[in-house]
Amino acid sequence: MLTTRHVLETARLTIRLADVDDVRAVIDYDRRNREHLRAWEPVRDAATAYDVEVRSASLGGRRADADDGRGFLFLARMQGDDAVAASVNLSNIVRGAFQACHLGYSVDAAREGQGIASEAVGAVVGFAFEGLRLHRVMANYQPTNERSGKLLRRLGFVTEGYARDYLFINGAWRDHVLTALMSPQLLEMRPA
Ligand SMILES: CC(C)(COP(=O)(O)OP(=O)(O)OC[C@H]1O[C@@H](n2cnc3c(N)ncnc32)[C@H](O)[C@@H]1OP(=O)(O)O)[C@@H](O)C(=O)NCCC(=O)NCCS
Repeated sequence: MLTTRHVLETARLTIRLADVDDVRAVIDYDRRNREHLRAWEPVRDAATAYDVEVRSASLGGRRADADDGRGFLFLARMQGDDAVAASVNLSNIVRGAFQACHLGYSVDAAREGQGIASEAVGAVVGFAFEGLRLHRVMANYQPTNERSGKLLRRLGFVTEGYARDYLFINGAWRDHVLTALMSPQLLEMRPA
């Protein structure tokens, strides 16, 4: 499990678990990416989305989830820069016979098209397999979200299905393409 100082390093990014101290950077990220994220993420409550106290409590809860192994919200920053460049989230972690979770992600609009998102997501998926020993990471995207589909294919995710009216986003139920990636380590351990 992660310790408070645990950090994922990639060629361009430092990726840490979100914590209460990140509240201003997270609110700044959400504020400047409001339009960029509107079509792809669930609506935020306008009354609380930019409230420091409310968001601090929420980040504290996310950090507690990570400490308990229930969910992991990571923030990626360009090395030497304090602004959040991307956000990657592992949720709905199920153990037992399933050993799976869902993956969510976004990149700052100004960092789109630079491979930053796939660098951050790749590192966190690596952590899901190697750090958490999960077997399956599932990621779902709207058919019109071509950038998201491309990112997932680049990382090896494979389409497994199509769910109609899957998530309520931007005022309506939206169809999603369902994809998943399996742990390479565990696949290697399968009998021939
Ligand atoms: C989905 C999202 C994260 C994809 O971001 P992205 O920047 O397109 O994804 P990547 O990091 O994989 O970048 C790929 C692009 O960077 C380019 N690139 C430049 N340098 C690169 C490098 N060093 N390594 C890899 N790719 C690089 C690639 O050629 C590719 O270009 P293209 O878009 O012209 O094909 C982003 O569009 C986003 O935040 N959308 C809003 C939120 C969202 O949709 N979340 C997902 C919901 S399912």
